[in-house]
Amino acid sequence: MHVPELKGKVVIVTGSARGIGQAIAERFAIEGSSVVLADLDHDGIESVAKKIITDGGSAIPIATDVAIEEQVDALFDTTLNEYGTVDVLVNNAGLISPVKHILDVDKAWWDRLIGANLTGTFLCARRAAHIMANKGEGSIINMSSGGATKAHRAFVAYDASKGGIEAMTRALALDLGPYGVRVNCLVPGFIDTYGASEEVREKQGAIVPLGRMGEAADLAGSAVFLASPDAAYITGHRIVIDGGVLVQQRSANVDTFPPSQFPKLD
Ligand SMILES: NC(=O)c1ccc[n+]([C@@H]2O[C@H](COP(=O)([O-])OP(=O)(O)OC[C@H]3O[C@@H](n4cnc5c(N)ncnc54)[C@H](O)[C@@H]3O)[C@@H](O)[C@H]2O)c1
Repeated sequence: MHVPELKGKVVIVTGSARGIGQAIAERFAIEGSSVVLADLDHDGIESVAKKIITDGGSAIPIATDVAIEEQVDALFDTTLNEYGTVDVLVNNAGLISPVKHILDVDKAWWDRLIGANLTGTFLCARRAAHIMANKGEGSIINMSSGGATKAHRAFVAYDASKGGIEAMTRALALDLGPYGVRVNCLVPGFIDTYGASEEVREKQGAIVPLGRMGEAADLAGSAVFLASPDAAYITGHRIVIDGGVLVQQRSANVDTFPPSQFPKLD
């Protein structure tokens, strides 16, 4: 699916030096959007920008820590200077680690994860909201996780941040709907963004109803859809891209009727 309406649109993707953010940024560039790459990892976004430009697209890298208000302001000010507006914000930057048990953590750990994931999403959404509300249109896409619905062990801050992001998505959708701005989120499942070994891919894939881990590119189509006119009447919602993990009661390896007993096809 290609979306001609996204040609020339200005799209900020945070956390786009690698992984899901990179795949989403590259996909918007293929759609003809001008992409602003924002990440802590300056070398990473420079190389993604170079790749996009070599492939005929338009992109600028802006080194940003989304948890720091002044840096978020600089990101939006530079974007306005370079491209004149912001049409789409993909709030993808996120920190998973350090993974720690609640009995081993201090407040600095909490502040770091909540800062990058929740405060960063808020700071970017707030700047985008002003720009988009004034134009009467725009799409904000936040990045949640299955952890917003079901807990991971030793992920107290991460899961709280993602639950907060889903609640914030709904609250932003109500505040911004009357101004023509839509706010939704994506919920990735097990996405292989670190080049997992074949053994890990097989083990993780076995508990996914669709039988495989996800790839970063699996998120890109849904991001493009939510930014497109086809999603014009969708706000405050989430799209779960997890191969069916969240809907299953028991994982395949402990199910009384595992996939190994499924009917064989001729
Ligand atoms: N990969 C998965 O299985 C998975 C599952 C559920 C949710 N998610 C979410 O999807 C998003 C992307 O995940 P990923 O696997 O591609 O992650 P990743 O670790 O591969 O990439 C995240 C990027 O965000 C950047 N970043 C981190 N903190 C930042 C900050 N304060 N300011 C700016 N940039 C910052 C990092 O430098 C990195 O480039 C995250 O929000 C993550 O929580 C991922």
